Amino acid sequence: MADKMWAGRFSKELDKNVNDFNSSISFDSRLYAEDINGSIAHADMLGKQEIIPKADAEQIMLTLGDIKNDIESGDLKFDETAEDIHMFIEAELTARVGYIGKRLHTARSRNDQVALDIRLYLINQINSIGGLLGELLLTLCDIAEKHLYTVMPGYTHLQRAQPVTMAHHLCAYAQMFLRDMDRLSDVSRRTAVSPIGSCALAGTTYPIDREYEASLLGFPAITENSIDGVSDRDFVIELCSVLSILMMHLSRFSEEIILWCSWEFRFVELDDAYATGSSIMPQKKNPDVTELIRGKTGRVYGDLMTLLTMMKGLPLAYNKDMQEDKEAIFDAIDTVLLCLSTFKPLISTMKVNTDNCRAAAAAGFINATDCADYLTKKGIPFRMAYKIAGEIVHYCIINNKTLDGLTLEEYQKFDPEFESDIFDVINLDNCVKARNVSGGPAPENVEKQISNIRINIAKLCIALKIQ
Ligand code: ARG
Repeated sequence: MADKMWAGRFSKELDKNVNDFNSSISFDSRLYAEDINGSIAHADMLGKQEIIPKADAEQIMLTLGDIKNDIESGDLKFDETAEDIHMFIEAELTARVGYIGKRLHTARSRNDQVALDIRLYLINQINSIGGLLGELLLTLCDIAEKHLYTVMPGYTHLQRAQPVTMAHHLCAYAQMFLRDMDRLSDVSRRTAVSPIGSCALAGTTYPIDREYEASLLGFPAITENSIDGVSDRDFVIELCSVLSILMMHLSRFSEEIILWCSWEFRFVELDDAYATGSSIMPQKKNPDVTELIRGKTGRVYGDLMTLLTMMKGLPLAYNKDMQEDKEAIFDAIDTVLLCLSTFKPLISTMKVNTDNCRAAAAAGFINATDCADYLTKKGIPFRMAYKIAGEIVHYCIINNKTLDGLTLEEYQKFDPEFESDIFDVINLDNCVKARNVSGGPAPENVEKQISNIRINIAKLCIALKIQ
């Protein structure tokens, strides 16, 4: 068991089980790079302010760099009995440079250190998630561009409702993912605030330069209250809530893909590399990936509940409960990264069966609104026109016909206003084309929508500093 830095106050060694219970190194070791970068900035600031000798600060900074290299090369292994990553690195530093290393923790506490590390880590992860989201959005734009004219039924209550195109439908998801990206950039802004210098909770009497230390780490701002600086985990909860919403979007999309590749729909076919078979039924091709994404959404929601519940009722300032934030947010991040990187190739290799989409659009009277609108445009009040169109649909169902399969005489039996141009109006391509209101599915609108989405992706990539 590693020696405790705080052992001076105690007359007994920590119980072995309590040590294991208390230790977080098994999961917070992934913060090693952020911890080292934070400590290098801290030593730099301490040296600049002459709080510790400049030469000592330099030696600390160099040695911390060596420790990072050794961890990355595998030469230095984490000591699983250490209390946490912060204690491990400080102990390693001291083992290498002796008493000089003991100067590093001047004007600092693990409370502001861990708050800093987690912020640094989350900023990087937000950037990676944003990058994958940007790629997914570009993939969606590419697919949508190919399907500007692929007519399919739009649904409400999972009943065929009105004609749209595959492009318009996919762009609805693109809008959701764009908002997710925007939310990520919001969280990133609130996360990039440096708490270091808050120390244990009450700041310090040393003449530290918080702004300088923050700027070394790329933070444009510092926290304004030392108690809040060490006890705030809003940014963790906020990120997890953004990730929960993102997973909800991925899950809805996954659910549609699951439906679409069923033989009842057959709107899409997954590439063989992204589907699985059954151990007993030879004909099966299962959409396991999308089902797993749908299932994993629950994990991320669970992580959010863990975080919210963990923080609820905590008095100010730092409490050990807050150590529990890490496994939850790490799990949420890992899950989202995994889902995004699997989902993108799944949809980019997925084949859209345009004929089946169109056949479904032709079968469900989804042009009935257009039929009613035709009469309305001839001066009949919409409610009356709606009733007449309903009667026509009823007649079609009884006689096993479709709206475009009726003769003009049949139409005129319902209303003499019908003329031969009704057939153009209820033609599915025309129904889509005519919905050229902004935000509608007409191909030229959707083209404009796609180009706006591309512009917004580029803007958000800049905001999130994605290359
Ligand atoms: N491992 C701790 C955590 O993750 C670090 C902070 C510990 N601070 C303390 N005063 N015990 O929250």
